[in-house]
Amino acid sequence: MTGASSGLGRAYAESLAARGHPLIAVARRADRLEELASWARDRHGVETRIVVADLATEEGLALCRAEIDRGDVPEVVVLNAGFGSSGPLWTLDRARESEMVRLNCVAVVDLAAHVLPGMVERGRGALVVMSSAAAWQPIPFMATYAATKAFELHLTEALAEELRGTGVHAIAVCPGPTRTEFSLSGGGQASTGIPFDDVEMVVMATWRALARGRSRVPTGVVARASLLGSRLLPRRAIVRIAALTHRRPRALKGSDPRT
Ligand SMILES: NC(=O)c1ccc[n+]([C@@H]2O[C@H](COP(=O)([O-])OP(=O)(O)OC[C@H]3O[C@@H](n4cnc5c(N)ncnc54)[C@H](OP(=O)(O)O)[C@@H]3O)[C@@H](O)[C@H]2O)c1
Repeated sequence: MTGASSGLGRAYAESLAARGHPLIAVARRADRLEELASWARDRHGVETRIVVADLATEEGLALCRAEIDRGDVPEVVVLNAGFGSSGPLWTLDRARESEMVRLNCVAVVDLAAHVLPGMVERGRGALVVMSSAAAWQPIPFMATYAATKAFELHLTEALAEELRGTGVHAIAVCPGPTRTEFSLSGGGQASTGIPFDDVEMVVMATWRALARGRSRVPTGVVARASLLGSRLLPRRAIVRIAALTHRRPRALKGSDPRT
């Protein structure tokens, strides 16, 4: 479970613990992970192994891979850690934009490639990748973020097909605006005035879609409506609408809660 310290990741961790799954919780904020570990032990008697790591770095990925290798092949892997930014690309911090690609794309490929061989050999497992409704089309003023989410969606749908017949399932989760630190701090679609979904709804929709063998799940009304719009409208029109709904008077310099 990456990004287990808050938001959607914390909600997936709680749901997995409630189902009796031991956790490997990965994020940078050790205090949040320790609190999660205590909660999972006290409430559900579930063991949590903590990995304090920056997954935008090779060192962080190596720590995470090493911890995975210390135990049995996981039943469910949720690759959820991610962040976004908002504003015209040329006004944003170049290093942060590259970091976003490393976290939202490179880390997902790296960890998926690391866990899948064991799952395939065992003939069982689930890989959950956190994409977004931002993946349906390019989004001006959120260009890098939407592109990383499209990458995650395409990667996961392709993996789901590669895994056909192996007993291992892959699913891309595509939420619309969801109430978390990320969205409330100005990232994602928070600024557009659209109502937010709850993290619990996204988690439950994920488990239902996995059980049905889906390779992607748009969660919530906004995600479903925007998917329909991106299919029905010409590409030029949908990108123009996305520009109008995501333009801001002043660009935010990134949406990470600590920036
Ligand atoms: N909220 C929405 O509206 C929405 C909609 C669609 C998709 N999503 C996606 O959902 C995922 C989770 O976002 P959220 O909304 O739950 O936001 P969040 O509350 O800010 O959670 C982000 C998580 O990612 C972790 N993280 C960030 N940078 C990291 C790094 N370099 N290394 C390791 N962990 C890192 C954070 O932990 P630390 O800070 O402790 O490292 C945190 O646990 C993201 O991939 C986001 O794109 C969110």
